[in-house]
Amino acid sequence: MEILRLVLLFVHILGFAALIGGLLVQARDSEKAVNGAMRDGAGTAFLTGLLLVGVLEAGDGDVNHAKLGVKFVVALVILVLVMANTRKQRIPQGLYLGLLALSILNVALAVFWSPAHT
Ligand code: HEM
Repeated sequence: MEILRLVLLFVHILGFAALIGGLLVQARDSEKAVNGAMRDGAGTAFLTGLLLVGVLEAGDGDVNHAKLGVKFVVALVILVLVMANTRKQRIPQGLYLGLLALSILNVALAVFWSPAHT
């Protein structure tokens, strides 16, 4: 189970990197859009996050449900906003900044809110 958790965490972090990378690469562009990296990253981070929770629940230790519940809601909002706008030519600056803020918020929750499991 430990190797599965680590593989999922590895892919989870690649997904997070694609999402943040896809956002940051257009930081200086005057027109923003949902790009492939954002779409695939949001989907990958979300799916592997859920699978990680499954692996943690199957283990012996305690699972931090409050932390994971908040992360889930934040990630779901990101995923819905990204998917709803994938076909649009451009997205408003406010939506871009909102997606960036929510993505960074989820990294902060992952890192600063004490462990997802013990
Ligand atoms: C935009 C969405 C997300 C981002 C940017 C993100 C980011 C991260 C990062 C950077 C880590 C590594 C730091 C750490 O291990 O504490 C992490 C771990 C983790 N994430 Fe996420 N995450 C996202 C969505 C989710 C979702 C939806 C879930 C499930 C509800 C989830 C569950 C987890 C779990 C369980 C771990 C810890 C794994 C372990 O320690 O075994 N994540 N996340």
